[in-house]
Amino acid sequence: MESINNKEDVLILAIESSCDETAAAVVKNGREVLSNIIFSQIDLHTLYGGVVPEIASRKHIEKINQVIEQALKEAGVTLDDITAIAVTYGPGLVGALLVGVSAAKAIAFAAGKPLVGVHHIEGHICANYIENKELEPPFGCLVVSGGHSHLVRVKDYGEYEIIGRTRDDAAGEAFDKVARAIGLGYPGGPKIDKVSKEGNPDAIHFPRAKVDENVYDFSFSGLKSAVLNYLNQCEMKGIQIVVPDVAASFQKSVVDVLVEHSMQAIKEFGFKKFAIAGGVASNSGLRAAFEDACAKRKIEFYHPSPIFCTDNAAMIGVAGYYEYIKGVRSGMDLNAVPGLKLGER
Ligand code: KG4
Ligand code: ZN
Repeated sequence: MESINNKEDVLILAIESSCDETAAAVVKNGREVLSNIIFSQIDLHTLYGGVVPEIASRKHIEKINQVIEQALKEAGVTLDDITAIAVTYGPGLVGALLVGVSAAKAIAFAAGKPLVGVHHIEGHICANYIENKELEPPFGCLVVSGGHSHLVRVKDYGEYEIIGRTRDDAAGEAFDKVARAIGLGYPGGPKIDKVSKEGNPDAIHFPRAKVDENVYDFSFSGLKSAVLNYLNQCEMKGIQIVVPDVAASFQKSVVDVLVEHSMQAIKEFGFKKFAIAGGVASNSGLRAAFEDACAKRKIEFYHPSPIFCTDNAAMIGVAGYYEYIKGVRSGMDLNAVPGLKLGER
């Protein structure tokens, strides 16, 4: 029988707590997920219509040890088998990040294991390596989550260049705000995705914003305002809104902009492969549009399964592996960096 841990195998215990998921995972040799434990706090925050940082930090403290123990147990390993500890140290909510960073430092110190600090967005990008064993850099990647919308040139493992970013709201943030306005509640992305299937995406024409200075940058706050204006006008005129139509039209507007910018980047930078990542990458409309646009251009298209799109620790384990084999090590002075930039250490 093949043993879980050969001497040459690199086993990463990964920890993620940057927002409202307390997560731990064990990843073998960068691409094989042995366990992926996620405690989602969504139900707690739904009550307030969004993530409450103080509540998130307290819940992380309550859950972190349990989640780590479960990740080791499900992987069938002990701390002795682990090669290194990887942890998200930014960007994210400072109090939330600190819980994961402190836990990782304590374990690394007590067990005498190397510590590797990981960038959360790098984790999202690396989620694509889990189920696509053949995927290797270089490729282009669109990272769309609740906190970020980045168009990234993945030059090599751990080497990134941001070619476009949002000027205001992140794509996921726009989904969450519009969902709240049309009464769907939090988290908005999955709810808009679901109801859009029953709506007409061409019912209302919402704007597709362009940013003049950089064609790859995004802006979603104008779109959000356009939806709010539409809702106000309907209310003033006594017109009943058709929720699925508003949701589908809004979603189409976001998807059109994301696909158009990405296709322009594919052309300009000559990417042969393109991937999507982050919570919004699990959107069914976005996936379908990318499948289609990439197929037309004979570009290989990659995306993680929904469980690896939203926040998880397996993706941090993958990114941590590639940083680890490159020789990256963090000290016991590793701190949470809420505004950490991609490619910075
Ligand atoms: O990556 P993630 O879990 O957390 C951050 O790093 O921000 O992304 C969460 C975001 C939320 O805004 C959520 O509404 C959005 O991803 N999301 C979706 C879908 N599933 C999650 N947006 C659109 N369609 C979905 N199916
Ligand atoms: Zn995330």
